[in-house]
Amino acid sequence: MTKKNVVEFRAMKQRGEKIAVLTAYDASCSALLMRAGIDVILVGDSLGNVVQGHSTTLPVTVEEMLYHTQCVRRGAPDAFVISDLPFLADSTPVMVIENAGKLIKQGGAQMVKLEGGANQVRNVELLTAHQIPVCGHLGLLPQSVHKVGGYRVQGRDEVGAALILADAKALEAAGADMIVLECVPSLLADQIRLSLAIPIIGIGAGVGCDGQVLVLYDMLGLTSGKRPKFSHDFLVDSRGIQEAVETYVKAVKAGKFPANEHSFS
Ligand code: KIV
Repeated sequence: MTKKNVVEFRAMKQRGEKIAVLTAYDASCSALLMRAGIDVILVGDSLGNVVQGHSTTLPVTVEEMLYHTQCVRRGAPDAFVISDLPFLADSTPVMVIENAGKLIKQGGAQMVKLEGGANQVRNVELLTAHQIPVCGHLGLLPQSVHKVGGYRVQGRDEVGAALILADAKALEAAGADMIVLECVPSLLADQIRLSLAIPIIGIGAGVGCDGQVLVLYDMLGLTSGKRPKFSHDFLVDSRGIQEAVETYVKAVKAGKFPANEHSFS
């Protein structure tokens, strides 16, 4: 498996080659993901839910993100790793540089992800000026759960859709190299993908995105409670975890996942 980078991801978008992304939080899973041919590993702050058992991602700390990023990096020395800046880790310019710096320098991540659009432009510019690749995150923002009153599909009305599109353009102009788009109508995701040169990685954003991401525990059927509509249990029809992840990678690359039943209108 060759080492991937931000230049390669843009080229993949131009070639129409889909980017397969999954979360991981430890060395065994990151090694398995690499063996299965994953393009990017996201150390998501979803670890607050699926590893720590919290009901939101808000309690996750930078030190915890650093610990899990280090674990993932040890298991997959050649992986392209994105690490999430957890809630409030980006609330001042000093903090955003200090915390992103920890995830890159001590954690071994190649990119940091932060949630938000226009409100994050200054942070994205700052990180970009310091040569830190940034992945934006738009649509459903789990760190804003209390402010928006729950987890729901975003951008369904005209005003909301226009705002998300404007946010995506603002993030790209500020220097972002990738954007995760969560739970938005497929048509809006298509419009955003066509408007931007950087890859758009969808989760509940339809098959038109440049790539797909899922939470590993969701796609292995490990998460307790109702599986999100946008996910799929790949383990059910597989002989094991390795095969389930390989099936996911192949389905993403072939444009077979997500299907309509995993998408929103
Ligand atoms: O934290 C996470 O796992 C994420 C994905 C849901 C995109 O941000």
